[in-house]
Amino acid sequence: MSEDKRILQEFKLDPDNELRFEVETKNEKVYLTLKSGLAEVFGTELVKAKTYEFTAGAKVAVYTWHGCVVEIKGKTDVIYTAKETPMVVYSNCHGALEFMRADAEKDNKRGPIAMIVGPCDVGKSTVCRILLNYAVRMGRRPIFVDLDIAQGQISIPGTIGALMIERPAAIDEGFSQEAPLVYHVGHKSPATNPTLFNMLVLQLANTVKERLEVNKKTRSSGVIINTCGWIKGTGYKQLINSAKGFEVDVIMVLDQERLYNELVRDMPNFVKVVFLPKSGGLNVQRVQEVNQGIRELENISMELQKNSLYPHSFDVKFSEVKIYKIGAPALPDSCLPLGMKADDHLTKLVMLTPNAGLLHHILAVSFSEKDDDDIILSHVAGFVCVTNVDPERQIITLLSPQPKPLPNNTLILSELQFMDSH
Ligand SMILES: Nc1ncnc2c1ncn2[C@@H]1O[C@H](COP(=O)(O)OP(=O)(O)O)[C@@H](O)[C@H]1O
Ligand SMILES: [Mg+2]
Repeated sequence: MSEDKRILQEFKLDPDNELRFEVETKNEKVYLTLKSGLAEVFGTELVKAKTYEFTAGAKVAVYTWHGCVVEIKGKTDVIYTAKETPMVVYSNCHGALEFMRADAEKDNKRGPIAMIVGPCDVGKSTVCRILLNYAVRMGRRPIFVDLDIAQGQISIPGTIGALMIERPAAIDEGFSQEAPLVYHVGHKSPATNPTLFNMLVLQLANTVKERLEVNKKTRSSGVIINTCGWIKGTGYKQLINSAKGFEVDVIMVLDQERLYNELVRDMPNFVKVVFLPKSGGLNVQRVQEVNQGIRELENISMELQKNSLYPHSFDVKFSEVKIYKIGAPALPDSCLPLGMKADDHLTKLVMLTPNAGLLHHILAVSFSEKDDDDIILSHVAGFVCVTNVDPERQIITLLSPQPKPLPNNTLILSELQFMDSH
């Protein structure tokens, strides 16, 4: 063990202060323990004397309303105490939502549907987490919707989804993933196929509305929607479409006044648009442009390996599965069949003959039992990864979270790839 790993630091935090730290070094572990007082990490309360572990990539803020003492063990790359935080503002937002929930509960109506928007790296996902944690700590059961297909927290990249929140997020692992509702877009950017993306957002919105209909507690608790940082041009239009699709009551705009003003201008009056400052803890830019590709692959491989989620490997015969791709190549306008619109090809279902091009790709396992467009709009059971294609024996080898058999033989190709490091 290196000397660094034994570094032990104690921090005494005054009320309304926050200890921020980052772990960057690969294979490094940092341990956090609350010694006295009360503190929380993104809305989840720390249990006194319990030790929490953080690994490379963690960017953490330990906030205290009333003051506390915490101990940090291990090598952090950045660590400091901040006296200025937007937590009071975020807490007021929670208070306003809570007010709307209480009203909704009284009249057995739908609680607030709130959408959080803003550019990349301003803390959108974090604000969602804080608001959901505060809600569930008040005994609410809100639905979390994640429309960020690049870095969503509900499933792997390339998907959007919804999750009923029944307990606060785990400090180190986030919300527990029981029975999430997941739709497969298959691209890591919503810009690749905006038509398909919007179709699935509307489908998800309808499903979420149905859930609100049938569950009284969830109905009054409402929905918190996370979005991606694509906020210009088509991205902005998509935000408007998502807001309409989910019939949002509140839009919280993080950090960007221009976006705030555009939304005030374009949203109907009954939608409250509020501006929120971002946290000073986000001032360091991610080396995003350079590392984007690498991070996405790492994300997936982490996802696949976490808790040995993909321990099973098995073969299926070509004839046992139907593999589809969504989106056909564009036809020139003059060749379009009668009645077909220019962008209809974007949502066309194309059946694939298994080939070497599938290698390392993620395939979504559809819930659909049909052979038609139902496949595009249906949510998915999970994901497998192609690790070998053998045209001679007519066999594909899959890496899967579950042993054979697959829950369904309808599979949809994702553009995302995963290289097994073993
Ligand atoms: N107050 C804070 N102090 C330090 N790091 C923070 C703070 N709030 C959020 N972070 C970290 O900053 C990173 C980016 O935040 P995130 O919520 O993912 O932004 P966005 O969703 O807008 O891209 C995350 O790793 C998160 O843990
Ligand atoms: Mg985010």
